[in-house]
Amino acid sequence: MIKYLLSAGDLTRDQTIEILDIAEGMADVNEREIKKLPTLRGKTVVNLFFEDSTRTRISFELAAKRLSADVINFSAKGSSVSKGESLKDTAQTLEAMGADAVVIRHPASGTANVLAHSNWINGAIVNAGDGTHEHPTQALLDAFTMRKRIHGSNSKGKALDGLKVAIVGDVLHSRVARSNLLLLNTLGAEVHFVAPPTLLPANPSNWKATLHFSLDETLQVEKPDVVMMLRVQAERMNASFFPSEREYARIWGFNADRLKTLKPSAFLMHPGPMNRGLEIDAISADSPQSTVLEQVANGVSVRMAVLYSLLSGERAADVK
Ligand code: NCD
Repeated sequence: MIKYLLSAGDLTRDQTIEILDIAEGMADVNEREIKKLPTLRGKTVVNLFFEDSTRTRISFELAAKRLSADVINFSAKGSSVSKGESLKDTAQTLEAMGADAVVIRHPASGTANVLAHSNWINGAIVNAGDGTHEHPTQALLDAFTMRKRIHGSNSKGKALDGLKVAIVGDVLHSRVARSNLLLLNTLGAEVHFVAPPTLLPANPSNWKATLHFSLDETLQVEKPDVVMMLRVQAERMNASFFPSEREYARIWGFNADRLKTLKPSAFLMHPGPMNRGLEIDAISADSPQSTVLEQVANGVSVRMAVLYSLLSGERAADVK
């Protein structure tokens, strides 16, 4: 089994389906009265977070605890040491303390790769979001959510072939968009990016996705099975990418009128945290077609599956 999960592109189709299948088993555990497996007893998982996070950090913490691992939360935000040095020092400290897995989130793209290609750490490494680059476990939990919405309890073994997914909004700054593109391609889905030109990367020609510059037209013409709204990542914007929030909400925001145009079977996703009233309105976010809270719940099962696969891959058959 793999030792690092740095990019959604690291996973083959079979590996992806296997992780999603293991997550199905974990979801069953999460519905039991005693939501705990002894599998990772004696293992230490370190959450190394250099950037703000609510759901991802808590989700990884809960996932590790439900597998009986010891968990250390290290929140390094605000450290005054220069980035390279502080990362090396921190990593070596964690290694000396015997970390079996390090889950890292960092504002700089490529940090998880730096850690994996250094010899500072021997344990498993999971990228929990590096700058605008990737967020592979988010893509896995999104794929899991799609599979479950479509196939219900018959999800095991299934991919997402032919599923039409529209990913809308701030693609430029979104690691969620990048990881979803890779994983959805692997699983056979059709990806459509819908964004103002200012919020698309300058040269996306090597992306296996169709680009659209009108949300209403895309909804009408493409009739997507899934619409994934992206957060407007104001903290990563060092310039003005759209004239005003009001205009953004009007042209690019998902709202009650746009909700009415969706096919009855289609659903609406958002990785959270949501800017309600900007990229998504309250009626849409709280509608039965919204999977926002399902995504959060599924995140725990998927992260349990990832930690399990990285730390005890050979025993993966146990929970299938
Ligand atoms: C995402 C992230 O941090 O990249 N959030 C998350 O992990 N739940 C998306 C976002 O911040 O917009």
